[in-house]
Amino acid sequence: MTEMNYYTTPSESARNILIANDRGGYTIPTSGLYPYQWNWDSAVAALGFAEFDIDRAWIELETLFSGQWDDGMVPHILFHKPDPGYFPGPDVWGGTGPIASSGVTQPPLAATMARRVWDKDRAAGEARLRTLFPAMLAWHRWFMAWRLDEHGAVCTTHPWEAGRDNAPDWDGAMAGIDASDVGEYQRRDTSHVNSADRPTKYDYDRYIKLVQIGREVGWDQQKLLDLNPFRVADPTMSFTTLRAARDLLVISEELGIEAEGLSADVALLEDGALSLWNESLGAFDARDAHTGEWAESVSNASYLCWYAGIQSPQMLDRVKIVLTTVPHPIPSYDPNMPKFDERRYWRGPTWAFMNMLAGFGLEEMGHGVEAEALRLKTARLIAGHGFAEYYDPITGSPAGGNSFTWTAAVWLHWAGRN
Ligand code: SER
Repeated sequence: MTEMNYYTTPSESARNILIANDRGGYTIPTSGLYPYQWNWDSAVAALGFAEFDIDRAWIELETLFSGQWDDGMVPHILFHKPDPGYFPGPDVWGGTGPIASSGVTQPPLAATMARRVWDKDRAAGEARLRTLFPAMLAWHRWFMAWRLDEHGAVCTTHPWEAGRDNAPDWDGAMAGIDASDVGEYQRRDTSHVNSADRPTKYDYDRYIKLVQIGREVGWDQQKLLDLNPFRVADPTMSFTTLRAARDLLVISEELGIEAEGLSADVALLEDGALSLWNESLGAFDARDAHTGEWAESVSNASYLCWYAGIQSPQMLDRVKIVLTTVPHPIPSYDPNMPKFDERRYWRGPTWAFMNMLAGFGLEEMGHGVEAEALRLKTARLIAGHGFAEYYDPITGSPAGGNSFTWTAAVWLHWAGRN
């Protein structure tokens, strides 16, 4: 499908993608490959809708929280309507919430994006935000209860929970998972897109094994704490949870809502995020919570420090280098590192929404030159190569799914702004 042609501006194409991916109250990331509601995709989609349909932006977030579990967890996928084109579906996951769902969560972007939507709708949006606030706070408290390591860093319990499925960050922890008894299953992703753009079978076996372990204990977090072979303190989780806590604090103060303990949570999460600094690598890194071993990975999540309100002169030096040496920054894994694979999902490709989050942080923390350079390079990438799921950082060629919701939203809210 041609997303942009002679007659259509990129902004019109972007709006058309959001409208086409709207399934009534929620937006799918792209048809075929991802036919359900994904948690962090939806938070980004809300920003895109906020540029032309503010009511629809709020609805996206409200629908996401309609799937919240009793314990506060918000699942990473809500299976609103069955779709045999996706694996693993609701029957494999066995989620226990009000809507059929997966059993893991995803990096919490919703509070941060809700605040940005509110900025565009201060008066009328206040009531919507007030209603969402307790749900967002309950989700935050769930992270504090179940996902912190002893330093206050936020852990992921599944590569799908971190959202960066096959990042080299997890290779050490994944090697410790015995998936020999995972059984037969049929992947669907590689029937929709090029298999060279997707995770390997080795990784998929372990993804499914971890789902089987969670399902066996009914996604009981206490039991999973003892059982789960995969627990990695992750820059994505740590930086986004810290940022969300800061935004919840601001919202609670501005709306005059009591939110006990939030300031202390922010302080603890800040210590945790700082604990992910790997001195010998010279970057924020993932750390196996079981073994204490560093992943030794400079990923695009390493560059979310500013988004979390953390300054880092060393990361600023790195971003300057990446902006001048990588044709289409920011790669999801450093091209100079040994596992770089320019098309394979989170092992090299550039993701426009991650650039946007890094760009928000850079701009807010006084690094306007780098923020603007990143925005313009992201705009050029999208305008030149379409609304892809992700891109080869060397050639810019599109990879994964196309007509992608969050890339369209990034264009409307950030990259394509005048
Ligand atoms: N990203 C995963 C997939 O590709 C699920 O969140 O299916």
